[in-house]
Amino acid sequence: MERPSPMYVCNCNGIRERDAHAAIEAGANRPADIFRHCQSRPQCAKCVCDMRRMIQCRTEALRHAAE
Ligand code: FES
Repeated sequence: MERPSPMYVCNCNGIRERDAHAAIEAGANRPADIFRHCQSRPQCAKCVCDMRRMIQCRTEALRHAAE
């Protein structure tokens, strides 16, 4: 059976969605924190908006959970 390919948030550094989620769960609250968590650095920076969206989504989920 073929395994699904991992979804990448950052193609330059090979950061997968699950890596970014793990970084956010560990407290990353800006893209630079995600890069640091993944021991990488921004290159083209095309992924920064997606990372911000992921962080925003997590923040809103936590806020709704607290209401
Ligand atoms: S896609 Fe992330 S730095 Fe290029």
